[in-house]
Amino acid sequence: MKYPGLIDFVKFKLIKGVDTKDIYDDAIVQFAYDKGIETFRKYVSAVKKNYLKDQPSLKTKKDRSKGEEFLEILKKRKVVNGNEICDELKCNPDKIFEMIDYYRNQGYEIICEQDRIILSHVIASEGIPIHQPLEDTEIIFGVASDLHFGSKECQITHLKEFAEICRKKGVKYMFVPGDVCAGYNVYPGQQFEVYALSAEEQEESVILNLPEGFEYYVLGGNHDYSFIKRGGGHNPMLSIEAQRSDFHYIGFDDADVPILPGVDMKLLHPSGGVPYSYSYRLQKNVEQIAYSELAKISRNVKDKPSIRFLLSGHLHIQLQSLFGTILGMQCGCFEGQTSYLKRKGLYPTVGGYIVQADMRKRDGMIMNFDTKFYVFPDHIEDDWKNYNHTITKPKIDKPLFNY
Ligand SMILES: [Fe+2]
Repeated sequence: MKYPGLIDFVKFKLIKGVDTKDIYDDAIVQFAYDKGIETFRKYVSAVKKNYLKDQPSLKTKKDRSKGEEFLEILKKRKVVNGNEICDELKCNPDKIFEMIDYYRNQGYEIICEQDRIILSHVIASEGIPIHQPLEDTEIIFGVASDLHFGSKECQITHLKEFAEICRKKGVKYMFVPGDVCAGYNVYPGQQFEVYALSAEEQEESVILNLPEGFEYYVLGGNHDYSFIKRGGGHNPMLSIEAQRSDFHYIGFDDADVPILPGVDMKLLHPSGGVPYSYSYRLQKNVEQIAYSELAKISRNVKDKPSIRFLLSGHLHIQLQSLFGTILGMQCGCFEGQTSYLKRKGLYPTVGGYIVQADMRKRDGMIMNFDTKFYVFPDHIEDDWKNYNHTITKPKIDKPLFNY
């Protein structure tokens, strides 16, 4: 490959709405691109056709300038009336929907509620629900929770080692019950413990370093949510999903995925700290699922219980137990001990699960499964320094001051 990394760079810039001429200028500097602008235009067209054909885009200069105007209005007012904004920008509703899709792909949490368009600082939009079971009779999946890309404690090497084991075991699906990104200002002093501060920087790190070869089903966690709350309504899940076709955002806090016929998986990112009794929160969460299933059966919403797996994130601890017909799992993490955990006197468990479930051997309500947790006890100091985290070259590439 003559210009390694150029495809990702061009894809990234196109999704951000940068002009081909400007991308070309940057490509000359960053990738020593040595061909003419016309050749580069053909290259960009091929990237669009092969990789970004389903991506919403603002095609003309006029569209892009209208888009910028729309975004500025939305940032200022937070809520606008759909009909009024059409009149104000002299656009038809289709154009407005095009702009909404375009900016949602950049991470803006824009929600349409009846005739209102809202830039949300509070509520995250729901991810795309999965309706069809992932497999028919048997499934093998991995679980990698609380990755915390952006944190200096992120254990990327161990995540990659775990992914390698998953590949060898035939894992096709990977579930992430929250906290893909480290987030912003989640605890006092966090800004000193991240290698990537902004949402865009953390997203780039995910895009470049999340191991490939799996279909990811990802729940947003409280650290991801911090960018919606404190980052001007930016949802990193939307932006990463737009740039990684293997990344499926399924919502925040709690979401279900059907994995086999009649068998659902619940992903949960609860709030609160690690309880005195390690298993307490997991037990309570499973209890609540059982109540909810019973209520749905009583109301004829469903005819029998279907949730057989609970994957719980957030606590960064590992434990599992079969509660009746529900296998509850606290899923560990891929982040070492931060100053926040030190203050709490907690030590995280770094690692992930591989689970195999088989419907063919099903006996009544009990389903056969095999679960193994792969633990990585050796902490790698400053592991983030072993990897590249930026698609775009930073303008300042060395420390500002040396003390
Ligand atoms: Fe977390």
